[in-house]
Amino acid sequence: MTRHATIFEMAPRDGLQNEKAVIATRDKIRLVDLLSQTGLRKIEVASFVSPKWVPQMADATAVLAGITRNPGVSYAALTPNMRGFEGAITAHADEIAVFASASEGFSQANINCSIDESLARFAPVLAAARAASIPVRGYVSCVTDCPYDGPTPPADVARVVQALADLGCYEVSLGDTLGHATPQTISTMLDAVVPLGVPLAGHFHDTRGRALENIAVALENGISVFDASVGGLGGCPYAPGAAGNVTTEAVVDMLEARGVETGINRAALARAADFACSLVGGKT
Ligand code: HMG
Ligand code: MG
Repeated sequence: MTRHATIFEMAPRDGLQNEKAVIATRDKIRLVDLLSQTGLRKIEVASFVSPKWVPQMADATAVLAGITRNPGVSYAALTPNMRGFEGAITAHADEIAVFASASEGFSQANINCSIDESLARFAPVLAAARAASIPVRGYVSCVTDCPYDGPTPPADVARVVQALADLGCYEVSLGDTLGHATPQTISTMLDAVVPLGVPLAGHFHDTRGRALENIAVALENGISVFDASVGGLGGCPYAPGAAGNVTTEAVVDMLEARGVETGINRAALARAADFACSLVGGKT
């Protein structure tokens, strides 16, 4: 099993996107700056999506302009289409992410198009990113369960993972968007996806408190990149009932207890987590 794991920090994006209260741009910047001092190498900072769909991310450009960049950190942004890509590049995102779904219901609810339409929309984004030497990460949501369509067939996940890899994504993050996955459903899904040989990450929401167990299964399957959010912040406005991402502090503790090092300074992480929780009313 891997001796080193990478945590992709989600709090500024997945963590805050669903918050109803307006969070000041300067507070988002402070959160990213605190996270930049923890040893994290990857931070998802913002989304260049429609502000009508996700009002909380409307200040993405200002957030990226205001942060103090640590040269060892890659600052990422979500981009659903060419308009989002242009915004992210203008704001000097180091890498971008496109996001698809393994289920049609969530694809329609989240990005207002079918899975195949979304892949067609991503093709020019990947081509433009390649021309600009910008790495692109891919997400697949609803890898085990969809709030609209029910259980997701593993073959559907494999199809979208392969499509994103074929488009040029350097890694595909497998999203348990609802947080209903179990070690068994994750294992069955990975049986269909791991043989593709595509670099994978795990993105587990923790609605039912099983995200750490699911990470353990992913680790056993050779996955060593995990998305997590300080304070457990997060949720998607188009996945009703979903709780936050798995908590970064808990993932670090769990990995290090297994002898998997993360390079993260726990005290600095706790400072970032305290600040993140203060932004959303103490949620942990
Ligand atoms: P649409 O309405 O079908 O698209 O939305 P449209 O092209 O007709 O545009 C509608 C309006 O949005 C227009 O403005 C566009 O200009 C504007 P209007 O003419 O009405 O004033 N627009 C944009 N504005 C800013 N930036 C853009 C952009 N594109 C269009 N990039 C669209 C389609 C994809 C835009 C919309 O559905 C959308 O923004 N969806 C994003 C939803 C979202 O961000 N969800 C959360 C992130 S995904 C997630 O959390 C899951 C993940 O964590 C993994 C997991 O947990 O599974 C990643
Ligand atoms: Mg998510």
